Amino acid sequence: MQKNITAKNILVIHGPNLNLLGIREPDIYGTVTLEDINRRLLEMAQATNVQLNIFQNNSEGMLIDRVHATFRDGTEAIIINPAGLTHTSVALRDALAATNLPFVEVHLSNIYARESFRHKSFFSDLAVGIVSGLGYKGYEFALQFFTKS
Ligand code: DQA
Repeated sequence: MQKNITAKNILVIHGPNLNLLGIREPDIYGTVTLEDINRRLLEMAQATNVQLNIFQNNSEGMLIDRVHATFRDGTEAIIINPAGLTHTSVALRDALAATNLPFVEVHLSNIYARESFRHKSFFSDLAVGIVSGLGYKGYEFALQFFTKS
């Protein structure tokens, strides 16, 4: 069933190694940098009067702590690319589950068209939806979903 969720305070979380976008395996992840992606998202958010917070970290614990901070900062929805932790992290999944916040899982690449170890996500069954394989636009579609723009 399709859910209809609108949020005015949204958190974007980028997992490990996504700070290297643009130079990291560009044939898979493209040449757009994380700064480019974030700039476009912030422009979109501003145009729709949405408060957007963005967090990238390479440490599982720091990502979990940022998810916990949503109990105090008014976050209404999350857009997350857990990156490599997609396939390994019960702990980050549990943190998201604890918040009970709606989230969209984003992957730049199509994880189902890659190695079999990437086919398993610890997040997808909790997610409102998944965008995988549409490059940086996946983040923008996720933001549009929550802002209805
Ligand atoms: C990724 C896919 C993951 O399998 C990989 O470990 C990443 C990025 C993506 O955006 O396509 O780091 O989440």
